Amino acid sequence: MKRISIIAALAAVISCGAPEEKVLKDTFADKFYIGAAINEAEIRGTDVEGVELLKKHFSSIVAENCMKSEEIHPEENVYNFELADKFVEFGEANDMFIIGHCLIWHSQLAPWFVYDEKGDFVTPEVLKQRMKDHITTIVTRYKGRVDGWDVVNEAIVEDGSYRNSPFYQILGEEFIPLAFQYAHEADPDAELYLNDYGQNVKGRRETYVKIIKDLQARGLRIDGIGMQAHMGMDYPDFGEFEESLLAFAGTGVNVMITEWDMSAIPTVNTGANVADTEEYKKALDPYADGLPAEVSAEWNARMKASMDLFLKHADKITRVTAWGVSDGDSWKNDWPVEGRTDYPLLFDRNLEMKPFLKEY
Ligand code: XIL
Repeated sequence: MKRISIIAALAAVISCGAPEEKVLKDTFADKFYIGAAINEAEIRGTDVEGVELLKKHFSSIVAENCMKSEEIHPEENVYNFELADKFVEFGEANDMFIIGHCLIWHSQLAPWFVYDEKGDFVTPEVLKQRMKDHITTIVTRYKGRVDGWDVVNEAIVEDGSYRNSPFYQILGEEFIPLAFQYAHEADPDAELYLNDYGQNVKGRRETYVKIIKDLQARGLRIDGIGMQAHMGMDYPDFGEFEESLLAFAGTGVNVMITEWDMSAIPTVNTGANVADTEEYKKALDPYADGLPAEVSAEWNARMKASMDLFLKHADKITRVTAWGVSDGDSWKNDWPVEGRTDYPLLFDRNLEMKPFLKEY
């Protein structure tokens, strides 16, 4: 009896004395979901440490690649659900808000999707049918399980005009309402979103506001708009970003920060004619041996400023999702230049939480 109480007392002292470990999804629980894009190694569970971080810190997940059309629907009559099924099971097992990404996108587009057997674009009627089959099959499979879908991804360019994607070339502006209609018919309870990068710029802002209002006027379901938030040390302008956030929220839909990361590598003019010199390589990949303390401090300050902006508008934002868990896994290590060492995410290569988050 006595021994047990001594042990209990000791345990109490130790647990009081230890600094409390921060858990992101708890820290921001009354503000928004904290999400992460998850990759194949995490879905399969081979990245054991990555999975641990996901379970501990994140209340939402989005598929980084496995639901894109080239992965999930590589041939007209072939669907590959293996990984997507596991992704959804992972989210359910861990009680997470599950996002499907993405139904209609010009990039990572299945090679057959918009072409006929001669290699020409299909007719509008054929493309409508293909979009309908694609969306209906996928959304129905995960009906009641995937909570929200990025229905249309990256449809608008900087100046506010429609991206000249095959979807736009074949169907014109109608491809967006059609995609929303098909998705809603397949799962009337699923949330449906638009999603794009560079949402701070005026052109995109104005066109998306118009598109949202148009969908609403037609009585189509639209729950939210994703601001991807792939950031750098000198972009976006947070004032412009906030202006867009407010304009989107003004339409009545939710705003989501959907693909948050911040490259620490300065923008380099990749068109320079010194491309092969050592100096140029160093300029392209300046932090291959580690992030200098002053750059890290600047990065953390900028990330803190963005999180503070999200918190300021937490009443309009339902989810803040990072595009990956830890730096080693980020797509930014290979984009826009392959094989670099970048530091864009919430956890570093040793799976330590970045300092700015500890301030909350
Ligand atoms: C990226 C993935 O992270 C990479 O693994 C893949 O090679 C290319 O696509 N906008 C999006 C995401 O909507 O789907 C992209 O994801 C990043 C930019």
